[in-house]
Amino acid sequence: MVIVIMNQKGGVGKTTTAVNLAVALKRNYERILLVDMDPQANAGTHLGIRADGDNSIANVFAGTKKIPDIVKNAEGIDVAPSNISLAGIELQIVNEIGREMILKDILKEINYDVVIIDCPPSLGLLSVNALTAADKVIIPVLTDYFAREGLADFLRTVQKVKSTLNDKLSILGYLATNYDNTAISKDALESLKSHFEGQVFKTVIRINTHLKEAPGAGKSIFGYKKCRGYEDYEKLGEEVYEKIK
Ligand SMILES: Nc1ncnc2c1ncn2[C@@H]1O[C@H](COP(=O)(O)OP(=O)(O)OP(=O)(O)O)[C@@H](O)[C@H]1O
Ligand SMILES: [Mg+2]
Repeated sequence: MVIVIMNQKGGVGKTTTAVNLAVALKRNYERILLVDMDPQANAGTHLGIRADGDNSIANVFAGTKKIPDIVKNAEGIDVAPSNISLAGIELQIVNEIGREMILKDILKEINYDVVIIDCPPSLGLLSVNALTAADKVIIPVLTDYFAREGLADFLRTVQKVKSTLNDKLSILGYLATNYDNTAISKDALESLKSHFEGQVFKTVIRINTHLKEAPGAGKSIFGYKKCRGYEDYEKLGEEVYEKIK
C-alpha cells in the first residue's frame, strides 16, 4: 500500500502528517517506509535524519543507488531521505521517456507493508511521480479562509494521472489541519465536508505547539510528548488503518 500526502499549497501540514502517520501506523504494520520527495528534505529532518553524501532519494532517481542503500531507521520506521539535489533531478528527468514512472519502478523493487510519500508544495514532476506510484492520496487542508483554494487544480492533476498513468489511484481522504475553535476553522471544515461528502477524515488535526516543536527535537510527536497532537495523529493512524486494511 502506497499512500501519498499531497497538496500543492505550502505549509498545510503535509510533512507533519507524513511523519506522524508513518510512525502511528507502526501499531498495525511491521515494515513502513517514509519517502521524502521534497528537495526541502523536511521529512527526514523531522526525524533527525540527513542524507549524507550520495545517499539520498535523488541518487536513487539518478540510478546510482537503490533504496536499501540509502534508508535510515528512526522510531522503528525506514526513511528514504532527500536533499536539495532532488530539485536538480526534477529538471534532469524532464526529457526522459517514462519520466513519470521512475518512482513507481523504484518502489517495485522493495517490499514494505506501507509506503508513505511526503511531497513538495507543487504539482511538478516529483509530485506526478508520487501520484503515479500511489494507491491512495491524503490531502491535508488548512482550516482557514482559503481552505479550498487550489483544490480544483489539484484534483485535475489527480484525475489526469489516474486516467493516463495509474488507474488504481484513489483519494483516501481530506484531512482538516490546524483546527482551532474559531468561526473560520469551523466554517472551513463545514465547507470541506459539504464539498467532499464522505471523503473528509473524521479525525481533525488541531493546532498544537508541540507539533511545531517536535521537528526541532528530531522526533515524531510520539517520540516527543503526549499532547493533543499526539492524540490527533494516533486517531488518524487508527482511521487510516480501518480504511486500508
Ligand atoms: N497542527 C499543527 N499545529 C501547529 N503547528 C503545526 C501543525 N501542523 C503543522 N504545523 C507546523 O506548521 C508548519 C508547516 O507544516 P508542515 O511543514 O507539515 O507543512 P507542509 O505542507 O509540509 O509545508 P511545505 O509545503 O513547505 O512542505 C511547520 O512549522 C509545522 O511544524
Ligand atoms: Mg513539507
